[in-house]
Amino acid sequence: MSRIIYVNGRYQPYAEAKVHVEDRGYQFADGVYEAIAAVKGQLVDEERHLDRLDRSLRELRMAQPMERAPLMLVMREVIRRNGVRNGYVYLQVTRGVARRDHVFPLHARPGLVIFARSKKPTPQAVLDRGIAVVSVPDIRWKRRDIKSLSLLPNVLAKQAAKEQGAFEAWLVDDEGFVTEGSATNAWIITGDGELVTRDASNAILNGVTRRAVLELAAEQGLRLVERAFTLEEAKAAREAFITSTTNHILPVTRLDGGAIGDGKPGETTKRLRALYLDAIGLGV
Ligand code: PDD
Repeated sequence: MSRIIYVNGRYQPYAEAKVHVEDRGYQFADGVYEAIAAVKGQLVDEERHLDRLDRSLRELRMAQPMERAPLMLVMREVIRRNGVRNGYVYLQVTRGVARRDHVFPLHARPGLVIFARSKKPTPQAVLDRGIAVVSVPDIRWKRRDIKSLSLLPNVLAKQAAKEQGAFEAWLVDDEGFVTEGSATNAWIITGDGELVTRDASNAILNGVTRRAVLELAAEQGLRLVERAFTLEEAKAAREAFITSTTNHILPVTRLDGGAIGDGKPGETTKRLRALYLDAIGLGV
């Protein structure tokens, strides 16, 4: 099946798809995006993602590229044309094409690109072993609640992780508190059994997976606290994990080279992962 991408009103083969060189997304990272998981061809938590997209657009005073109902139709069509069952849809909106000038253009129409991609499940060996995380300073701007295209610090963090043999980087603010991962939210379970993740503020992206897992944890009667935790506290945690659209929940078993807990994926983490996969239709 040849791959099709939706670009500014047209479904096109990848080789023919083009955006203008003066699209503001290209010149200024002046745009926002969403990645929405697809399970058996259905979008997971679609409304929450589209609500967050609307919020990102509003915060940056960008126009909606289209109404929600047609947008949902286009996403389904992109999934269908690419034969995606399990994977994700990526959607990005930019402030459009205009002669280069930092000031907002007066007449540009927002640019819209949507693609869908299959993703293989995380290999069992990775789930059994858990992932390694390394810490890096959080050098991002102060509006991390906006899902902006401007991801250079995140790219550098993830690359640093890769170069150290880790899967993810945890970003640490100037006060020594973990904000989140380069493309995931960060969670720990403390020695006394508190499930902790950073509270939603301008300091982090409020993950859609994060919110779903908070709800599941509450249903399970787990002791939940949304607060900042330090890197030191994370290193001393009993369990740790990350959440995101494309990774769901992954156990963290090493942080900066040291073991988390006994160095194996934690029981609560495994239970939450199973419950979450069940909830989105990926349960076994
Ligand atoms: N990343 N924090 C950051 C900085 C992220 O980029 C993401 C998502 C998350 C998790 O959010 P959610 O649960 O809504 O996916 C947290 C996406 C998947 C990406 O960049 O591809």
